[in-house]
Amino acid sequence: MQSRYRWWRDAVIYQVYVRSFLDSTGDGVGDLAGVRAGLPYLKKLGVDGIWLSPFYPSPQHDHGYDVADYCDVDPLFGDLAEFDLLVRAARRLGIKVLLDIVPNHCSSEHRWFREALASPPGSAARARFHFADGRGPDGAEPPNNWHAMFGGPAWTRVPDGQWYLHMFTPEQPDWNWRNPETGAEFARVLRFWLDRGVDGFRIDVAAGLFKHPDLPDSPDPEADARTRDSVNPLAWNQPEVHDVWRQWRAICDEYAARDGRERLLVGEVSVPTAREHALYVRPDELHQAFFFDLLGAPWDPDAFRKVISEAMQDIAGTGSTVTWVLNNHDQVRTVTRYGEPAPEGSGLGAARARAAALLMLALPGAAYIYQGEELGLPEVVDLPDDVLTDPIFRRTGSRARIRDGCRVPLPWSGQASPFGFTSGVEGVKPWLPQPEWFAEHATDRALADTRSFWHLYRDGLQLRASLPQLGEGTLRWLDTPPDVLAFARGDDLVCAVNFGTAPVPAPVPGAPLLASGPCPDAGVLPGSTAAWWITDPSSTPHL
Ligand code: NOJ
Repeated sequence: MQSRYRWWRDAVIYQVYVRSFLDSTGDGVGDLAGVRAGLPYLKKLGVDGIWLSPFYPSPQHDHGYDVADYCDVDPLFGDLAEFDLLVRAARRLGIKVLLDIVPNHCSSEHRWFREALASPPGSAARARFHFADGRGPDGAEPPNNWHAMFGGPAWTRVPDGQWYLHMFTPEQPDWNWRNPETGAEFARVLRFWLDRGVDGFRIDVAAGLFKHPDLPDSPDPEADARTRDSVNPLAWNQPEVHDVWRQWRAICDEYAARDGRERLLVGEVSVPTAREHALYVRPDELHQAFFFDLLGAPWDPDAFRKVISEAMQDIAGTGSTVTWVLNNHDQVRTVTRYGEPAPEGSGLGAARARAAALLMLALPGAAYIYQGEELGLPEVVDLPDDVLTDPIFRRTGSRARIRDGCRVPLPWSGQASPFGFTSGVEGVKPWLPQPEWFAEHATDRALADTRSFWHLYRDGLQLRASLPQLGEGTLRWLDTPPDVLAFARGDDLVCAVNFGTAPVPAPVPGAPLLASGPCPDAGVLPGSTAAWWITDPSSTPHL
């Protein structure tokens, strides 16, 4: 197969959370024209592509993951003409564009759901969703005991007494994928965007879609509620979902066969084991699926080694490559996550996040970077309650403050909010408040400081693009002391990470090619630091 046909296998994709990237209209919310204006910045960083979070018409109950119309742009973010300009500009710069498609559920404002509400029980319009009669006297109890991922029951009652299923919020009714109309509609949606030139799709909740046909009670509803994870075996990971991915793959392959440009499907697949994950990336299904276990691993060499080894072992046999990710719009940022419980201001979280980035960029496969990661942005942990917009906060009775802190609009320049994020219309503020300390992370400062996160990412990406050893393939673990992980790529590239805080002898003599922190003494790897070396295999006993 030609290499241009397999670009995605070791691509580095930058996740653009559109509402927080760059605001071109001055309303305090990022937009597609802002993304277009930011493309040269991303080109300079060296990414291969961007994934755009949902920008479709939506009442924004879950920031666009509640889609009211899959084939348009919400006026908040622009219009189809602006979208076309963005795709063209990205193409000129050689940047691929992936859209975020949401097939498990839509918005309660979607025309088909409104039609369902206006139609009687048993109607064809209701059969596109999961409507059911309740249990107990007068059907006043939900049809089963399932919990919604964001808190509360997974069912909401409508005025005529029936209930409908929503695995997230009530504003996100789940599609009924056992109804052939659903699949046909999504095939139309895929083609609509492929015809507009996109390079592929990130698929939301790709282990969802189908539910057990009888919608029986979950054996352990408390566990479902406690973990907020895809553990209910009747609501997730049903075997029929694989047929959908085969159909979507066939559509993408049809476009690729026309012009030799392979279109990518990358799934958000949350399933219990790496082995089940691997089923989603069989050769005729999704090209890739995010491997979240790395993101979930604590800062511990054994934990990292275990998840990396499992991923390599289980995914290698499928013909896909592992899709590594450390940050995204649903998770606490690495600088903060790895910093805990270190004393505030110790810099440990930042040092570890830098080391983790070099480790990720040295692993075989694709890597996803979440906007702001390249600036070393910490989580904003002290947003006041009244600005929080994450539906999880509202639906857990204000207990779970999870996702707003990583979604604060990016700082671009200057000393004070809005830090160049919005064009500064009098009185208009970014949709989430930016703390004063964002000034230290603004892109203008980052670009000017060669010790910044930005330069580390840029240098790492440049080397990755120029060194064939860092392409897809395998890794070989090297023997190391307990706090250290080291692996070889190809014949002569070594990546080592010191997870401890004390310096250790480096596994390779000589100065590193790139290091995540200062390495003043050759032959010594300081604590909380990662480095890459090109080495002479004959002089390195491990290789
Ligand atoms: C996963 C997305 O990443 C998240 O942001 C969203 O809330 C849920 N899916 C529901 O669509």
